[in-house]
Amino acid sequence: MNFIPYGKQTISQDDISSFIETLQSDFLTTGSKVTEFEQKIYEQSNAKYCVSVSNGTAALHLSALALLNKDDKVLTTPNSFIATANSILYANAIPIFVDICSNGSIDLELCEDMLKKDSSIKAIFAVSFSGKPLDQEKLQYIKETYDIKILEDNAHSLGIKLTHSDISIFSFHPVKHIATGEGGAIVTNNKALYEKIKRLRNHGQDNSHAMLELGFNYRLSDLSCTLGLSQIKKLDAFIEKRQDIAKKYDDAFKNTPIKPLYPYTDKSVYHLYIICIDFENIDISREELFKQMREKNIGLQIHYKPINKQPYYKSLNYGDESTPNMDKYSAQCVTLPCFPLLSTTEQDYVIKTLFEVLDV
Ligand SMILES: Cc1ncc(COP(=O)(O)O)c(C=O)c1O
Repeated sequence: MNFIPYGKQTISQDDISSFIETLQSDFLTTGSKVTEFEQKIYEQSNAKYCVSVSNGTAALHLSALALLNKDDKVLTTPNSFIATANSILYANAIPIFVDICSNGSIDLELCEDMLKKDSSIKAIFAVSFSGKPLDQEKLQYIKETYDIKILEDNAHSLGIKLTHSDISIFSFHPVKHIATGEGGAIVTNNKALYEKIKRLRNHGQDNSHAMLELGFNYRLSDLSCTLGLSQIKKLDAFIEKRQDIAKKYDDAFKNTPIKPLYPYTDKSVYHLYIICIDFENIDISREELFKQMREKNIGLQIHYKPINKQPYYKSLNYGDESTPNMDKYSAQCVTLPCFPLLSTTEQDYVIKTLFEVLDV
């Protein structure tokens, strides 16, 4: 069996052909493909505006600059890629880590408790973790009741619609739902935010090239957008394939000590398929499981170690927050291979090998 990673892109001949066509055209950078791709992303997300950027981290950076002021307190999740919390620091604002709930996303009830106690909190940066949408009713209630800014980091969740948040961001890194090489996007319904973010993407210049503020070059190229346009046509099929894989894993793990992070739901777009194993009550450590699976050519991953316990965050005096759910989850989580090109034979092999190594 060839090596099976936890995630990878699906590139086919039509992607390659359209990429070559753009390569032979007059515009490799900011041409018509950028606008076309942005239109597809805002339509897909039910949003009014989209700004494409060079990666998901750039999307978070510009969003944080547009939404936050220096020293703003921002509630965020320890269970994400580091970029989510880092973006708050980029804006010289203050991340406050809140525990997660049973589906791996930030606990919005806890967020509300904190908002009740501290009226100086200005925003929530939440992640629709693994592809499962956040509770939109609760988000809307919180936004209206406490008058705060909400950013949804939907890097795991292309396909989810923008409803109540100020901004939602995406990543088009190859392990995500569609690949543009590196790539990202910001969607919003707020014209002022859209215009500010668009300016920040292009050195802080307006349409007549007057530089109004300090910005960046975070533009996504025509070449990348061409790939994105070709890929997004297949988004529904990609999501369906990921859901089929998730369902099959769920069925296989019934009546075993392997617990899916949440029961199968077609509301999740399954960027990640995660299981939890109580390693304290089983005869193998997670390190040993990873090692033995790797020897059998299967790549597993951990999503995530708590951001607040990263050495850099510890150096900023984070790490001692009370996050019992996150601590338990991060000791038990294992990400299994889940991507559209995973064949039935490969998935059967992953399941069989996992059972053998765990001796269940
Ligand atoms: C939740 C989350 N946010 C942000 C990012 C950053 O995206 P990018 O790698 O495109 O910069 C990632 C990437 O892994 C992510 O998983």
